[in-house]
Amino acid sequence: MARPILISASILSADFARMGDEIRAVDQAGVDWIHIDVMDGHFVPNITLGPQMVQAIRPHTNKILDVHLMIAPVDRYLEAFADAGADLMTVHAEAGPHLHRSIQAVKALGKKAGVALNPATPAEAVDYIIDDVDVIMVMSVNPGFGGQKFIDSQLRKIEALRKRIDATGRDIGLEVDGGIGTENIAKAVAAGANVLVAGTATFKGGPSQYAANVAALREAR
Ligand code: DX5
Ligand code: ZN
Repeated sequence: MARPILISASILSADFARMGDEIRAVDQAGVDWIHIDVMDGHFVPNITLGPQMVQAIRPHTNKILDVHLMIAPVDRYLEAFADAGADLMTVHAEAGPHLHRSIQAVKALGKKAGVALNPATPAEAVDYIIDDVDVIMVMSVNPGFGGQKFIDSQLRKIEALRKRIDATGRDIGLEVDGGIGTENIAKAVAAGANVLVAGTATFKGGPSQYAANVAALREAR
């Protein structure tokens, strides 16, 4: 049986002035997770939001808050994001020299732990931490901005990581982030992904379109 496919709506493409409404709208539109992009203007060339926004979002949905931490250093902020209501915290393999420590810190806070790999980072980067993570995230764009083009070379990495995950026998999520739309979601799923981040593809057209946008993604895969 095919594994369930989850859509994680990236709020980077939401209307920040109406965030509570936006969260409720995508929740009702049937997304599975809410993807929250945290950027520091240092690890990535953009600044977005912090724990206060996660805390503000939390009362508006019971769905998984999938917090993507594009910040360096990361360890000193994990507790604040955990307290704010994150369910899953994903740290970048490239964000510092002590990835194993960061993952243990997330788990010690009682949260699900993810690791994200930038486009140039090889699949091998997870080999010695794969038994400790709940999610592996392949960046299919260079992190920093929504609305970028999907980088096709990442399909091979998704395939390589699917093999590694299956070899563990554990239910590790394989998430893909960046440039996902109806035109390429099937390729990402065929390569082995089961969590698809969609920012532009979820929020385009405004709230009246969200349900149709999410349905179109599910149908296209
Ligand atoms: C990019 C972010 C993504 C982004 C995806 O750095 O990590 O989550 O919001 O946006 P789309 O789906 O528009 O490529
Ligand atoms: Zn993201």
